[in-house]
Amino acid sequence: MKEDVQKMVTISNQKQKLWLAITMIMLIFLQYGAVVGSQRVPAMFVFGDSLVDVGNNNFLSSLAKSNYYPYGCDFRTGTPSGRFSNGETFADMIGRLLGIPYLPAFADPNTVGTRILHGVNYASAAAGILDETGQHYGERYSLSQQVLNFEATLNQLRTLMNGTTLSQYLAKSIAILVFGSNDYINNYLMPSMYSSSYNYNPSDFANLLLNRYTRQILALHSVGLRKLVLAGVGPLGCIPNQRATGQAQPGRCVDYVNQILGTFNEGLKSLVDQLNTNHTGTIFVYGNTYGCFGDILNNPASYGFSVVDRACCGIGQNQGQITCMPMQVPCQNRSQYVFWDAFHPTEVASAIIAWRAFSGPPSDSYPVNVQQMSRI
Ligand SMILES: *[C@@H]1O[C@H](CO)[C@@H](O)[C@H](O)[C@H]1NC(C)=O
Ligand SMILES: *[C@@H]1O[C@H](CO)[C@@H](O)[C@H](O)[C@H]1NC(C)=O
Ligand SMILES: *[C@@H]1O[C@H](CO)[C@@H](O)[C@H](O)[C@H]1NC(C)=O
Repeated sequence: MKEDVQKMVTISNQKQKLWLAITMIMLIFLQYGAVVGSQRVPAMFVFGDSLVDVGNNNFLSSLAKSNYYPYGCDFRTGTPSGRFSNGETFADMIGRLLGIPYLPAFADPNTVGTRILHGVNYASAAAGILDETGQHYGERYSLSQQVLNFEATLNQLRTLMNGTTLSQYLAKSIAILVFGSNDYINNYLMPSMYSSSYNYNPSDFANLLLNRYTRQILALHSVGLRKLVLAGVGPLGCIPNQRATGQAQPGRCVDYVNQILGTFNEGLKSLVDQLNTNHTGTIFVYGNTYGCFGDILNNPASYGFSVVDRACCGIGQNQGQITCMPMQVPCQNRSQYVFWDAFHPTEVASAIIAWRAFSGPPSDSYPVNVQQMSRI
């Protein structure tokens, strides 16, 4: 994927104006922190990695933490929360669009009693589908541990409602799963620390991930979840961290990295088809993260971005070698940057992805979007 100037020129003015308008609305929406409309679903449960962690790693012995300034510098409370963003995450915004307040982190000892009723966030920075992924960062809740943690929440929920009420509550709740990035960045693409790239070719590795993922998705289904959003992996070859490896020419993404993700994303989409066929009364959705980010990176100006290859906060080439350091001064014009740090999008970039997942066409969110899912 390249930032193709030619493409930018050919975008119709109409589309550009539309996206500028939507981005402005999203910015206003972010600034006022409005919950849009009334609550559409009883609860939301979020599983994943640092893209959606809301502070679980604050409670773990991990090097992957973001509970220091300037993380959270645009967050409503103005304080770092453990989110790997200048503000909200993708899942916070989906929650807001569904009328769900910020979810508590599972690892927080205060996440007990009625605080869990709107849902819980289990996401953990450095976590992957594979248990060993990200181990060089220290503790993290891998996918399988997050499923066990959800089962612990279920035990608490059983003390708050009877069986009939609980199964209806779970069936109407939405689960968001954001996994796979670390299985590449902090496993497969790190041959000095992980052996997976010696043992598997890219396609076999993607299938390994999909097999393990399927097992855990079916476990969540078997305990009562009926609406699951499976977010695909974005164009990791374009993040400042991968650009800084020197494997890409200036102004280009690392094409090899983007290519090897293809099998995983295609497989995840076809898994969604299979799951929807095999489990009636259940709706699985594939989020086309790759396509939505690709669109932003190919047409940055139409979304109001001017910087796509450098992080707003970071060190080294493309500000992408080391993640944003404590007390480092971030860039000023954060809404003009696609990437906040070496690995993570800015709040505005996440807002566009969230908006597309919530209300976009099947090319963004397949076979239905999150809004349609919430009404089923
Ligand atoms: C479960 O709780 C709901 C709401 O409190 C109530 O209407 C229903 O009768 C209860 N069902 C059983 C089987 O106890
Ligand atoms: C769906 O059902 C088919 C036919 O029984 C089976 O081969 C396939 O493994 C199932 N897939 C999933 C993801 O459950
Ligand atoms: C921020 O954006 C404004 C308006 O586009 C521009 O004038 C200014 O130079 C930018 N500042 C930085 C630090 O990029």
